[in-house]
Amino acid sequence: MGMMESLAALREETEAKLRACDSQELLDQLLVETLGRSGKLTAILRTMGKLPKEERASAGAYANKVKAALETIVAEKRAALGEIAKQRRFEKEALDVTAPGTLSRPLGRLHPMTQIYREIRDVLVGMGFSLFDGPEIELDEYNFTLLNLPKDHPARDMQDTFYINDNVVLRTHTSPCEARALKTLTPPFRLLMPGRVFRVDEVDASHSPVFHQIEGFVVDKGLTLGDLKGILDSFVHAVFGEDVKTRLRPSYFPFTEPSAELDVSCSICGGKGCRVCKGTGWIEILGCGVTNPHEIANCGYDPHVWTGLAFGLGVDRMANLKFGINDIRLEYENDARFLRQF
Ligand code: DAH
Repeated sequence: MGMMESLAALREETEAKLRACDSQELLDQLLVETLGRSGKLTAILRTMGKLPKEERASAGAYANKVKAALETIVAEKRAALGEIAKQRRFEKEALDVTAPGTLSRPLGRLHPMTQIYREIRDVLVGMGFSLFDGPEIELDEYNFTLLNLPKDHPARDMQDTFYINDNVVLRTHTSPCEARALKTLTPPFRLLMPGRVFRVDEVDASHSPVFHQIEGFVVDKGLTLGDLKGILDSFVHAVFGEDVKTRLRPSYFPFTEPSAELDVSCSICGGKGCRVCKGTGWIEILGCGVTNPHEIANCGYDPHVWTGLAFGLGVDRMANLKFGINDIRLEYENDARFLRQF
């Protein structure tokens, strides 16, 4: 067989193989076999030297044509195979976003303190209270002075204060919101003012330097201690149940006059006396009173016209009571094994 025939045969044979080729690996193999350095085409070209001189040029030209033709087919085949591979991958990786999931996602839950906060908030909102907010970094004036606690007032010592400078503190209670409300809103109003408060305290089972309070503040004309008792009774019964008894015990706060602490009958022993209520049958839950006329006047209203009722409760304390938690630290450690129980 002459060289031209060999080239034509190689072309035909290779084209047939290429047409049948259905994988990248096979294609690479074919490429090496035919166009590679020790492939069939090279082998044929080596016989060129044996040709008579006048045939060499046309044989060479033909060989180049065959080579170019084969290379074109290989390139086309490579592209086609790549496309097929891509389609297969797409099919394999196709994601049906409407298919039901196979993994169940663990559901989170609300922190016990958030639960009790929301419960208290909802009860008070149901009684016509609205939310009002004040800053955690507060002026001494609002935290103390306007609330009838001038500088050097002995009752300031009751609240171990973080001072930022002489005039600025981390608020020790939510009561400064009362002054902010009086200075920015127009009475009458019923407000609930929740938030984080700070005191210089060593951490132990019942103390934390950061804790949470909710302040209740009602300003209107002609309010009395009887109104306060009515509000607190409805509130306690909604949160702790109708069977719980309440009592107001006289107390002292500079921003209320008269002042009281509200006790509820111990829900653990039902009032008989136990460790939680220290044998008394009662548990203190909040401080309250009729707003001191000095506070009303300090904030720019005539105390002969406007009266106020206020109460302040510890959210952490309420959560502990409600859920029977005996250590405030558990509220802040965020140990999921503990929190999962509520
Ligand atoms: N601010 C008081 C405290 O943190 C709690 C308190 C007592 C708030 C009596 C009141 C109140 O509004 O009337 O110790």
